Amino acid sequence: MIIEENAVFHLYTEQYSYLLKINQYGIPEHLYFGPPVQTTDAAALSLRPGLGWGSSVLLEKGDPASCLDAMALEWSGSGRGDYREAPLELLGQSTDFRFTGSRIIEGSEPMACGLPQAHGGSQTLELTLAQPGARLKLYYTVFPTALVRRAVLENVGDAPIRLGKCMSFCLDLPGSSTMTSFHGGWITEMGRRDTPVQEAKVVCESRTGASSHRNNPGFLLSAPGANEEWGRVYGFNLIYSGNHYASAQRSLQGLTRVMQGVNPAEFCRELTPGDCFETPEAVLCVSDGGFGGLSQAMHRFVMEHIVPPYWKNRPRPVLFNSWEGCMFDFNQRRLLELAGKAKNLGCELFVLDDGWFGSRNDDHAGLGDYTVNRKKLPGGLTGLARKIRELGIDFGLWFEPESVNEDSDLFRAHPDWALTDDFSPVYGRNQLLLDLTKQEVRDHIVENVSNILDSAEISYVKWDMNRHSIALGSKAHDFILGLYEVLRRIFAPRPQILLETCSSGGNRFDLGMLCFGPQVWASDNTDPIERLRIQNGYSYLYPQSTMGAHVSAAPHAQTLRATPLSTRGNVAFFGCLGYELDLKHLLPVEVREIQAQIEFYKAYREIFQFGRFARTETGWQVSDGETTLVGVFHTLTHAAPGYEWLRVRGLENRTRYQVASLSQALRIGQFGSLLKHVAPVSIDPNGQLLRIADRHVTLPEGEEVLTVSGGALESGIPLPPLFRGTGYDKGQRNQGDFGSSLYIITEC
Ligand code: GLA
Repeated sequence: MIIEENAVFHLYTEQYSYLLKINQYGIPEHLYFGPPVQTTDAAALSLRPGLGWGSSVLLEKGDPASCLDAMALEWSGSGRGDYREAPLELLGQSTDFRFTGSRIIEGSEPMACGLPQAHGGSQTLELTLAQPGARLKLYYTVFPTALVRRAVLENVGDAPIRLGKCMSFCLDLPGSSTMTSFHGGWITEMGRRDTPVQEAKVVCESRTGASSHRNNPGFLLSAPGANEEWGRVYGFNLIYSGNHYASAQRSLQGLTRVMQGVNPAEFCRELTPGDCFETPEAVLCVSDGGFGGLSQAMHRFVMEHIVPPYWKNRPRPVLFNSWEGCMFDFNQRRLLELAGKAKNLGCELFVLDDGWFGSRNDDHAGLGDYTVNRKKLPGGLTGLARKIRELGIDFGLWFEPESVNEDSDLFRAHPDWALTDDFSPVYGRNQLLLDLTKQEVRDHIVENVSNILDSAEISYVKWDMNRHSIALGSKAHDFILGLYEVLRRIFAPRPQILLETCSSGGNRFDLGMLCFGPQVWASDNTDPIERLRIQNGYSYLYPQSTMGAHVSAAPHAQTLRATPLSTRGNVAFFGCLGYELDLKHLLPVEVREIQAQIEFYKAYREIFQFGRFARTETGWQVSDGETTLVGVFHTLTHAAPGYEWLRVRGLENRTRYQVASLSQALRIGQFGSLLKHVAPVSIDPNGQLLRIADRHVTLPEGEEVLTVSGGALESGIPLPPLFRGTGYDKGQRNQGDFGSSLYIITEC
């Protein structure tokens, strides 16, 4: 809801209030963003500058309350006395936008430029500000758990305007804070970093052309002392997939200025009379329930208002992906064999990854030529898809339509379609980007991909992009607008196709891409111990249903780490589960274990994908209010471990719950010569007998079922002992390094 009273605007839902006022100078001042308050609190929430600060520059001689530098603002300009960072720069000019009017709009105000928008907002406040020759509109759209802001600058004069920077929002929050942001690179996405926000500015930005795995656009600002369950935390994210910029900086007055938008680095756009520039939408959330509360607000917003409506709360299939198992080396027979095995394991979708087209036998050639390779697939895609679907499993396909290899028919026919600058080309993974700012390039991609999608029964697309850009400034932005046009034209008429986007894993994990495809391949790193950190990082801002999470082979391709299959499953359960390994080499015990994993996941899939998520001391939990699933994860084992407690959040104190562990199997081979302690006969740890037994026999592990009150579970109940070197017992958790357990908690 939005209320206006005496130049105060109150935007509120059950979760938050956002208050701003237009002051006597026509400047929008920020009053409040936090849990619900009342419109009449505006006066009490207004800052009082008193006699002001020394060396202030004033809008009105003698009035310390006219010092822009000391105000908490909703927006600012340059050259008028606010010396903090400005959200808007018109090259070489001062800016001084003042309020001229407002409008309350039902729903959202549609954008003209083709940027994706959050859907289902209740109301929008439009503030109009103006200075000679230019009009600025600030939009605030209300969603139940988030406020979405954006800005539009319009040239209403008769001379061109040179725009150097226009952020989506700017805001001055009270008090000090810490910025939590997420950084990394290929196979090491989303490392959490906490940086105190002081007078030296903290910046989180991308310049690679994509939102990037270096610096994800989502970030948080937390008050001192905030933890998972308590304290004020603000969350911000941008509905954008290109170069982004965010900054936070503390002022002398103790305000934190925060802003976010398209990266102004090298950005320059000339607006001729009548032209306008629309920023992407930025998402703002707040919670007094700590990082956990903030994540839940963000998750709800993304699930309800970002992902395509068709996929809202729609269960995602358990998939098998051919990449790690086959790479480029496959033919129809091998794929059908794999699809049959995947079906037998319980998978519902078979995804053929890279290598099915043109001369794509490695990553040096073929990108751009989406004509099926008949040597590998004599029946074409139509034939392959039909045969795979006859096995009772759906079919999905990989594309990388934004790129081209020089060694491709497409490049030979259209060398001018590659994105170039005035220098010799630079390569990423041996490829160039296509220039998506050109209409004929966009038309080609749309036609080519659409024809393939319509030529066979394809229910899923993995849309990859594996190199950084060379487009600078305004062109980088136009490239992203081109990409959005292409995605919209291909997928809007085919909403039932599940689109999973990917950029060497999580190099473009952002809300812009999620508006087109509801899930993103979170990382090429599927080592579960690495995934604990990577998925944990994503979980601050993105719900589990947005993360592709696969079980792969051990030892792992990127870390050489050997981990138990149970832990690989337990970690991947907290996302959209898939399998990505060569199924030919699975042992009978592994086949049984994977079948059990998939059966278990399917039984609880809605909770894993869409349930309320929390980070806990020992791992993660998800809940639909009736059933809670808790993962307890270990990394390196230490000798003589102490007790460990299971703490569960969000239960009813007086209700009784059943706690059951997911039964897991221990491979006997992992015990080597230790088996002599439990086996009735002596067994050679390197012998044939143990090798054969290991293929077929497993040991039960740490199984238990008990009932207990919600109150006791909230405080924590002791878990079965961990192995301590004092003997084998089947009630014990004999897990060793990288072990994990999963508990199912249901009301009795
Ligand atoms: C990227 C993706 C992988 C896989 C390969 C195929 O690296 O992240 O998942 O699709 O490309 O070339």
